[in-house]
Amino acid sequence: MELTHLILDNNSFETKQNNFNKNTNDKKVYIETFGCQMNYSDTEIVLSVLSDFGYNETDDVKSSDVILLNTCSIRENAENKVFKRLDELKKYKKLNPNIILGVLGCMAERLRNELLIKKKMVDLIVGPDEYRKVPHLIDNLIETGEKGIAVKLSRVETYDDITPVRKKGVTAWISIMRGCDKFCTFCVVPFTRGRERSRNFKNIIDEAVRLSDEGVRDIWLLGQNVNSYRFAEKDFADLLNDVAVAVPDVRIRYTTSHPYDLSMKLLEVMAKHSNICNYIHLPIQSGSDRILKEMNRLYSVEQYMQVMKKSREMMPSVGLSTDIISCFPSETEDDHRMTLDVIREVRYDGAYTFAYSRRENTKAYYLEDIIDEETKKRRLDEIITLQRKISVEINQNLIGKIMPVLIESLSKKSDEYFMGRTDCNKSVIIPKEHSYVNDSGELTHKKSFSIGDFVNIEIIKVNSATLFGVPVL
Ligand code: 5AD
Ligand code: SF4
Repeated sequence: MELTHLILDNNSFETKQNNFNKNTNDKKVYIETFGCQMNYSDTEIVLSVLSDFGYNETDDVKSSDVILLNTCSIRENAENKVFKRLDELKKYKKLNPNIILGVLGCMAERLRNELLIKKKMVDLIVGPDEYRKVPHLIDNLIETGEKGIAVKLSRVETYDDITPVRKKGVTAWISIMRGCDKFCTFCVVPFTRGRERSRNFKNIIDEAVRLSDEGVRDIWLLGQNVNSYRFAEKDFADLLNDVAVAVPDVRIRYTTSHPYDLSMKLLEVMAKHSNICNYIHLPIQSGSDRILKEMNRLYSVEQYMQVMKKSREMMPSVGLSTDIISCFPSETEDDHRMTLDVIREVRYDGAYTFAYSRRENTKAYYLEDIIDEETKKRRLDEIITLQRKISVEINQNLIGKIMPVLIESLSKKSDEYFMGRTDCNKSVIIPKEHSYVNDSGELTHKKSFSIGDFVNIEIIKVNSATLFGVPVL
C-alpha cells in the first residue's frame, strides 16, 4: 500500500490552534457533525483547511456564509436524520440565497446524484478524501455559480500534514488511519471511505507530544480499524506502545477494532502501560458462526471468546464493550439465542446494539430479508434488556470501590457536577466541589476540582450507563 510521507511542520500546530477564529477575513462557516468520532475528527480537518483560506467558525447558523453538514451513512436512520436537518436548513437559504449549503462525508460519497436531484438547495458535495478542495469549490461556486462536487476516493490521502483545529479541552482525537479493507457484507464504510491507509508513525507520536505539552490529558487514537494500522515495519501495537512512552501523563484510548486483527502483542502492550486505558471495544456483531460467515467477519465465536478470555487474564479489571447487529437477513431464533448466550458469557460492561439496516452496494443488500417487523423488534429488545441487566449488575459491584477518574467536562445535566471517566472507560458524575468530614462527622476542609484533574472517587450510586461518586482524600 502506498503511504504518504509528508512531514508535519512543527510550528504549524500552535499557529493553527491560535489563529482559528482570529482570521481577519469575515467569512463564517457553521458546521454540524453526524456519526462516529472519525467524522468529528474530520470536521477538525475541514475547519483547518478553511481556516487557511480566511474562514472563522461560528455557532450561529443564521449569520453564517457557509453551512456544512458532515454526514454519516452507516444506517438508514443516520441518513434520515441528515435529510431532516437539510429540510430544516432550507429556511436559512430562503432568507439568504447567498448562503452556501454543503454536504460532506459519507452521504456525499454515497448519495451525490440523489442529493443533486432531490436536494436542489445543496451547493457543495464533498466526500471524505477531498476536503482539501472545499475552499476552492466555494470560490468557484461564488464566481461561476457552478455546484461544487468532489467525491473521488483516494488510496493515499491521510491529511497527515494538516493540523486539525481542535476545541480546547482535555480530550483530543488523533486519526491514525483511514478507510477499511474488511468488506463486512452489511457495511458501507469501504464504499464511502475507501481503502485502508495509515499515517506516518513519527508524525502521530509528534502530534501526541504536542497535545500533551498543551495540556491534553486524554488522547483517542482513531481509525475504522486501528488494528490494521501499518507504517513500514510498525504495527498498531508498536504505535500504541510508543505513544504511551512518549506521553506518560496522558491517558490513551483507541477505537475501533476488528477481532481478526487484534494481536496478543497488542494486549501485552496494553497490560504493560498504566496510561493505556484498560478498555477494549471489540465488535462481535453476532453470536452465531453461520451469521458471522454470512457477514464476512473472518473469525469464529470461539476465536472471539479466546481474545476476551486472554484480555481478562492479562488485565483483570478490563472494561469490555461490543457492537451487535440484530436480525441480519436469515438470522434464525437459534442464531439470536446464540448472540444472547455470548452476551451472558462475556458479561460486557456495555454494548451498542443496532437493528440491521439494508445498505445499497453492500453484498448483504441482495440477501432476502425474511424476518417480520414484530420479531425484529422483540429480538432487539431482548438484547438491550439483557445487556442493561448485566451492566447494572457489574456497576452495582463497584459501589464502595475507589477508582481514579479523569475529569473531562461539565455534566450535561447540571453545572454543579463534572463528568469524568475511569480507566476502564465508565462515565462517572462527581460534584465540582467536595466537603471532607472526619470520622466524627466534622467538616475538615473543602476542595474544588477542575477539568483535567485525576481524582480518586468512591462510587456511591450507579445505573446501567453511569456511576456516581464522591472524591476521597
Ligand atoms: N446495519 C446495522 N448496523 C450496522 N453497523 C454497520 N453497518 C450496519 C448496518 N448495515 C454497525 C456495526 C458496526 C457499527 C459501527 O455499526 O455494528 O460495528
Ligand atoms: Fe465496516 Fe467491517 Fe470495516 Fe468495520 S470492519 S468499518 S464493520 S467493513
